[in-house]
Amino acid sequence: MPETGRLEDMRTNDLLLATGLTKSYGPTHALAGVDFTVGRGEAVAVMGPSGCGKTTLLHCLAGVIAPDLGQITLFAPHGPVSVSGASSEDRAAIRLNHFGFVFQQGLLLPELTAVENVALPLLVGRTSRGAALGRAAELMARLGLTGLEERRPGQLSGGQQQRVAIARAQVGDPAVVFADEPTGALDSQTSSEVMHALLASTIGEGRGLVLVTHDRGVADRCHRVLSMLDGRWAGAQPTRQLPPTGPARATDPATPTMTAASTDSPRLGATR
Ligand SMILES: Nc1ncnc2c1ncn2[C@@H]1O[C@H](COP(=O)(O)OP(=O)(O)O)[C@@H](O)[C@H]1O
Ligand SMILES: [Mg+2]
Repeated sequence: MPETGRLEDMRTNDLLLATGLTKSYGPTHALAGVDFTVGRGEAVAVMGPSGCGKTTLLHCLAGVIAPDLGQITLFAPHGPVSVSGASSEDRAAIRLNHFGFVFQQGLLLPELTAVENVALPLLVGRTSRGAALGRAAELMARLGLTGLEERRPGQLSGGQQQRVAIARAQVGDPAVVFADEPTGALDSQTSSEVMHALLASTIGEGRGLVLVTHDRGVADRCHRVLSMLDGRWAGAQPTRQLPPTGPARATDPATPTMTAASTDSPRLGATR
């Protein structure tokens, strides 16, 4: 049975590689030995029943929590970085500099405007307010949100809020974006539009995307779909289909352009 990610399998375009991840909460083995990899311009979906360990995996990969055992390496532009070996302070810096996050509910701050929400990761860093808001507005425009910059989250639809959250996840130019049930609270039409926006702004820009979903239709738009059961990969894992190396070009037929309004997103070559 092919593994989902092993050092000896490492591809030149790997962004994040994890081997042998375990994480227990008392008697619960949330992760019981999981390998994983995601490459540049690659979208990987993780499915499985509630409680099987999907969020724990995402949180370990993203450096939110530390695994009990196992290695996680990020191949950053300046060289490999050990996420698993980093202190919690260093993990916070890795998250800020290299990762983006999208959650089921946008988790936007209600008292900030949409553009301030998008700019927030830059505002907590060293970027000037003007530059941060400029970059945020540019990302909003690319996600079809022009004209909504000054709205508060409460004045936006669910799909618009989620696109604001997607813009926020890109603002720091992350290598990998993690999305936990990003369409879980949306109707199917809105879900399709949000998925299009998410794919365009991640794999369309050469980022990796790790997406947890219960929705088979959403998962099928990713390059690979992995299924978890009781903290392990369930069943035979798919053969890898390598995504194009380097940032995908706008002309690449498999890569949606970064316009959320369009819903004619091509299905990516899913391999299962
Ligand atoms: N912080 C925690 N404390 C105790 N148990 C936890 C914690 N986080 C997750 N678990 C347990 O670990 C298992 C996997 O949880 P989780 O990763 O959230 O699953 P999923 O995202 O697939 O629903 C579950 O049994 C859950 O109850
Ligand atoms: Mg979960």
